[in-house]
Amino acid sequence: MKRNILKHKSSPVIILLLAVLCYGCQSSMVTQKEEPTLKKIFEDDFYIGAALSGSQINAEDSATTHVIETEFNSITPENVMKWMYIHPEPDSFYFEMSDRFVELGHKNGMNVVGHALVWHSQIAEYMNEVSDSLTMVDYITSHINVIATRYKGKIDTWDVVNEAFNEDGTYRESNFYKVLGPSYLELAFSLAAAADPNAKLIYNDYNLWKPEKRQGVIRMVKQFREKGIKIDGVGIQGHWSVQGPDIAQVRSCIQDFVDADIEIMYTELDLTTLPNPWELVGAEISQNYEGSPYMNPFTDGLPDTMAVKLGERYQDIFELFVEYKENISRVTFWGVNDKQSWLNNWPIENRTNYPLLFDRASKRKLAYDYVAKVKLSETE
Ligand code: XIL
Repeated sequence: MKRNILKHKSSPVIILLLAVLCYGCQSSMVTQKEEPTLKKIFEDDFYIGAALSGSQINAEDSATTHVIETEFNSITPENVMKWMYIHPEPDSFYFEMSDRFVELGHKNGMNVVGHALVWHSQIAEYMNEVSDSLTMVDYITSHINVIATRYKGKIDTWDVVNEAFNEDGTYRESNFYKVLGPSYLELAFSLAAAADPNAKLIYNDYNLWKPEKRQGVIRMVKQFREKGIKIDGVGIQGHWSVQGPDIAQVRSCIQDFVDADIEIMYTELDLTTLPNPWELVGAEISQNYEGSPYMNPFTDGLPDTMAVKLGERYQDIFELFVEYKENISRVTFWGVNDKQSWLNNWPIENRTNYPLLFDRASKRKLAYDYVAKVKLSETE
């Protein structure tokens, strides 16, 4: 029989002991109480995603892995699915990293994004040498068939074509376009739809806050729909800065896609905190800015005023996104933390940038709190 210690003669001491223990366990429960993470905070709004580097896919840093698994419910491969890596020669594919990426997503029950099937950049060299239409169709067909079939049912959304438009809304003169004209886009979407009928297929691009550019995209979507070619939405990259584009410009971009009944995903959000060379009068990126303190002002940390500015800007952006939550199904950051960000090396190499919500040690930054505040203040 169990002894009832509360009925024991010397119970005052025991009761005191229990009380202390109980207080200790309660207070440790309080301190251990999990703070809500981004995916929880925005669970009624949209997926919150991050682009993962190769070393993040390989889980090389435990703090970063923890952030990936707890904060995000969608992942995109930053590089490992790009043509030059996944299909380096016409007859050879490399799937080790992309398989690992997809497994990571499934293990964590995440929305998994494929990036990107057809893109002129980071492409295998043999693709730039193609000059006849038969070979081009052949290569695009095998690329999409093999990859989209391998991941059938495992990739939720494919960036089928990336960056096919010029700033004025005309088609970019990529080698795909030179050889096949705009039909390469139809080919790519049709092949992806046939290989994985249940995946969401999107067109992805930057600078869609520019009205002429997005009009080109909207025209294309309408043409696809008239022809019965499946296209499920648009990916708006969102490589912006602390200064711009204005919220009003971002709003009218969203509204134009909403009016055209096109689902929106923000696919590559980051906000540079550093000066851009093209904002300087007469500046050319080809000029060598490397090592220039003027272009790399925050090597010892982001000043508080800038940290607040970044936070406020993120807050404005997320307030707008939440307002359009019926139309925006995902917001993905282009990277997990500032250390990883491509903006340390683009458009000028070797700078110290602070564009994301987690710092170089994968700790939450002030900007994180500004983003969280957008929803948490609603419930206060
Ligand atoms: C970038 C990666 O982040 C870098 O690591 C790589 O060196 C270059 O490409 N638009 C896109 C992304 O669609 O694939 C790009 O990613 C950033 C711009």
